This record gives sequence, structure tokens and C-alpha cells, in this order.
Amino acid sequence: MSDEHVNTRIVLKSRPNGLPAIADFAVETAAIPQPGPGEALVEVMWLSVDGFMIARLRVEENYTAGVAIGDVMQAYGIGRVTASNRIDRAIGDIVFGAFGMQQWALDQGSPVGRVLDPAMGPPQSALGILGISGWSAYFGLLDIGQPKAGETVVVSAGTGAVGALVGQIAKLHGCRTIALVGSEKKVRQAIDLYGYDAAIGRHDSDFDAQLKCAAPQGIDVYFDNVGGGHLEAALNAARPYARFAICGMISMYNAEAPVPGPANMALIIGKNLRLEGFIVSNHWDMMGDFLKELGAWHAQGQLKWRQTVREGIASAPDAFIGLFTGANMGKMLVKLA
Ligand SMILES: NC(=O)c1ccc[n+]([C@@H]2O[C@H](COP(=O)([O-])OP(=O)(O)OC[C@H]3O[C@@H](n4cnc5c(N)ncnc54)[C@H](OP(=O)(O)O)[C@@H]3O)[C@@H](O)[C@H]2O)c1
Repeated sequence: MSDEHVNTRIVLKSRPNGLPAIADFAVETAAIPQPGPGEALVEVMWLSVDGFMIARLRVEENYTAGVAIGDVMQAYGIGRVTASNRIDRAIGDIVFGAFGMQQWALDQGSPVGRVLDPAMGPPQSALGILGISGWSAYFGLLDIGQPKAGETVVVSAGTGAVGALVGQIAKLHGCRTIALVGSEKKVRQAIDLYGYDAAIGRHDSDFDAQLKCAAPQGIDVYFDNVGGGHLEAALNAARPYARFAICGMISMYNAEAPVPGPANMALIIGKNLRLEGFIVSNHWDMMGDFLKELGAWHAQGQLKWRQTVREGIASAPDAFIGLFTGANMGKMLVKLA
């Protein structure tokens, strides 16, 4: 039961060994924080759960600081400013920021935070199509993948928050598109909703044969969200000089050491392949260009976007874990206020 006079939040109770479990998190209450100089108080309305958050639970090397035991679990969110000691935040502003899994947060002016333009659509789109998902799809496909009309683009987790947009942007560029997905329902969604030319279920025993059949001339661009066996299959099916945009490797995030990699990496040499990974949040400076172009496609109704919504702060751990079982159809979000 939520209480509007306290801050209900999700803290890390124990470090997961492999796939996280609900028991690794605890629901706690604390006093609502008071904004000091240069801070604003935000009532969090929406939370995003993202695959990269798994890395913040590990003790080993991280590209940003991890979550300590007892700390609030990290997450991006959208909220409404209810009190402000900042000149760039007014009461009533709807803002994006790294607020964590909690009902109330302080906006302390981190470089990623921004006030949202209400004309850009529902606020939660800033956690999906007009946020990190859309931006990863746009940057990874266009900057790294360099797709050309007539080329074949393969997308793993092809109906996910990032993948569904990659497939549609590639289509807008005149490419033939193929999705790799986790269920028959997602195969249908890939073709009927997102306009893929073909979709292949990752659990099918003839996965590799289906990929060869769907891309008889081979793959020109592979957008990877999954890694492991998907990456190995894509390396086998790649045409000479194909480009691989490595966005995520979700199949490997919870694997126990030693984590097996693709066995055919030597093909990178013989086929003259280019593989490039990226962390989209290293490119905040390009946010303006992204919002302009992808925002225009979105406003013109050229891109389909779906979300799976869990209700209430207590559901956040389950929503997060659901990413690793494919429970989401589109962007996984948690609705709070
Ligand atoms: N580099 C960056 O800056 C950046 C930014 C955002 C996201 N990412 C990464 O991009 C990827 C996609 O993120 P997203 O937010 O769009 O998530 P998402 O695709 O909406 O959700 C995750 C999907 O991954 C698939 N999956 C989960 N476990 C899997 C497994 N063991 N093997 C194969 N597929 C599995 C499931 O789809 P199916 O049911 O279809 O298999 C699941 O629905 C993630 O790896 C994420 O970490 C990277």
C-alpha cells in the first residue's frame, strides 16, 4: 500500500548470482527528501527498466558506479517537479532524470536530466521512442550500421524497445529487414506491426537454416541486442564487408563464468567485417539531432511504438527481471503516480 507521506523505494538486498530474483531486492520506506540549494524535488511518475542495469549490480568492472547493498536501485525516470531551488526547474515541469527506483527523488542537475517538451507526446515516450531506446536504435543503426537501400538488416530482440525501432528505421531507408525474436507471438508482431520482411523464433531448432533462407544473399547489417548464439549465427550469415552495431548482449549478462563467446570470430578477418560497440549515453551532445529527426518521423506516425506497463513501485523488480525472460512486448515501463 503506498502512502503519499513517505518515499517508498526499492533497495538492493543481495547481489544476484546469475539471473536476479525478487528476493535480491527489498521494498523500503523513508522520509520524502527535502530539496537543498540547487536541487528540485520530483514526484516520479514513470520508471524505465533497462538491461544495462544488471551491470550495476555486479562488483566487477562497470562503466559507471554500481549499486551498493542497501542503496536505491538505479533507474531512469520521468517525474513532476513539486518544489524547486533551481532556476532551470519550475514547479509543474515534467522532467527526465536518473531518479532511481523510488517515488520521490531529488533532481540535482546531472548532465542527463532535462525538462520535457509537452508537445513531444506522452511523457513516458522520453523513456522509450524519444529516449534511450530510440536513440540507441537511431545512433547504432545509422552511425555504425550505415544501411543502404536494398541491403539486408538483421535485428536481434527485434520487437524489443530498441529492436522494433531499428527494424522500422531500416525499412524507412529502403532495406530488407529480418527480426530474431523469442516467441511465435513476437514473430507475428514483427511482421504485422513493425513491417519486418521475415521473423525467426530464437527457440526454433532450425534457427540457422531459417536465417539462411530469409537472407539468401547474406546479411549486410547486423544490429545486436543479444550476443551469444545470435551473434555467432550472424557472423556465419554475414556478407563480406558487413557492419555489426553491437548495442547489447542480453543473453550473456546473467551467464555464469566462463561465458562462452561465438566460436567463429575468425570470420571477422576473412569476411572483412566491422564490429563496433557503443554506449549511447556517451553521446548526449547528439540528443538534439536525434530528437529532431526521429521526433519528426514519430510525429508523422511513421513509427510504431508499444509498451508493457507494470503498476506501482513494488512491481519494479519484477518488471526488471521480466526483461531477461522476454516478458515485455515493446518497452518495459513501471507506472507510479
Ligand atoms: N549500448 C547502449 O547504449 C544501450 C542502450 C539501451 C539498451 N541497450 C541494450 O540493448 C538491448 C535491448 O534493450 P531494450 O531496452 O530494447 O530491451 P528489450 O529488447 O525491450 O527487452 C529485452 C529482450 O531481450 C530478449 N532476451 C532476453 N533474454 C534473452 C536471452 N537469454 N537470449 C535471447 N534474447 C533474450 C527478449 O526478447 P525476445 O523475447 O524477443 O527474445 C527480451 O524481451 C539490451 O541488451 C540492452 O542492454 C544498450
